[in-house]
Amino acid sequence: MILQGKNIVLGVTGGIAAYKAVDLCSKLVQAGAHVDVIMTEAALAFVTPLPFQTITQRPVSTDMFRLLDSTDMAHISLAKKADLVVIAPATANTISKLATGLADNLLTTTVLATTAPLVLAPAMDADMWAHAATLANVRTLEARGAVIIPPEEGRLASGRIGRGRLPATETILAAIRQTLGGRGPLAGMRVLITAGGTQEPLDPVRHLTNRSSGRMGYALAEAARDLGATVTLISAPTALGRVYGVRQVAVRTAEEMAVAVLGERENTDVLVMAAAVADYRPVSAAPEKIKKSEAGLTLSLERTRDILASVVDLRADGWPRIVVGFAAETQDLIANASQKLSHKRLDLLVANDVSATDAGFEVEDNRVVLLASDAAPVTLPLMSKFEVAERIWERVHGMWSERYG
Ligand code: CTP
Repeated sequence: MILQGKNIVLGVTGGIAAYKAVDLCSKLVQAGAHVDVIMTEAALAFVTPLPFQTITQRPVSTDMFRLLDSTDMAHISLAKKADLVVIAPATANTISKLATGLADNLLTTTVLATTAPLVLAPAMDADMWAHAATLANVRTLEARGAVIIPPEEGRLASGRIGRGRLPATETILAAIRQTLGGRGPLAGMRVLITAGGTQEPLDPVRHLTNRSSGRMGYALAEAARDLGATVTLISAPTALGRVYGVRQVAVRTAEEMAVAVLGERENTDVLVMAAAVADYRPVSAAPEKIKKSEAGLTLSLERTRDILASVVDLRADGWPRIVVGFAAETQDLIANASQKLSHKRLDLLVANDVSATDAGFEVEDNRVVLLASDAAPVTLPLMSKFEVAERIWERVHGMWSERYG
């Protein structure tokens, strides 16, 4: 995991959302990061250092002139060892100071003294966020390379509804992970991932679909983002939400997915078809709701386009460079998957036995076998879908390095 062992400086400034920084701090520590918290004087009015100190098991820094030890000044030592500085919440006041390069407290001084990437999660009243001064300061910081996570819309401390809320902890974590991974092994690689189970309409209220939750595809998108890739995720409907730092394209049917994938093909280095695409669809969808009658109902189905086959057929121009497919099998896993690998002319096939109840459809974990044309099958143990995703990218990266240096 990308946060494991990383030195993160968490700056907390004086806004009502300061209490939410405790949750962020906790999640960072849970992910294996070493977190040093710096609070401004104003932050101390909203939350005490105690929860941060308890979670991090380290002293919380608040005073620029307190010596960490006999030789180090706090702002220099924290600035030098930081892998990343995140400020959450970042007030309009602190953003303004950072934009002008002011160094009047330990946090602003640390930011000035560090070369580590800077992530800011602004939170403030909607009018302050929309003010030309704040927007200009944000642009200045962005131009210098800072990552600004836009505040979310919702109920503000004033009781008004507007844009100014601190983004969810998960969003801030995702921005931190993406920033840390920016120069990772997949940097510069454009990856296209499909996810979810397509829906084939029968009438305005019914459709044919399957049990895919989309989690494997979403995990692949997150993992690729964390490794530095530029990610596009084409997703059939799922219960999963936005993935920070990933371009998402919503589709419903197999045909919509085919059109979307083929539209992106020439700008794609690696395609991973993790979606469970319908093989058949109703010949026609009834324009009105189908009414029941005493007689049974027979549905007439026709084949959908095989997206992988269409992509591979067009691949003579070289794009995508690497194509990865999935195979959901309920019997003779390796034999069926090997056949699919060669039949579909894929570089890599991820096969899973969907008859198992602890892995595959609708659950968090997966147990897969990786099959490539040039190597023996590799059976991975039961692991989270995110870990499976990391192993898939490791394998793709290996193939990429071998072929394209
Ligand atoms: N796939 C596709 N287009 C389709 C159906 C499937 O691109 N119309 C892709 C899936 O995204 C997956 C791979 O093909 O990456 C294998 O899908 P799977 O359903 O396991 O196999 P099929 O080839 O459809 O064969 P079968 O259903 O007979 O097992």
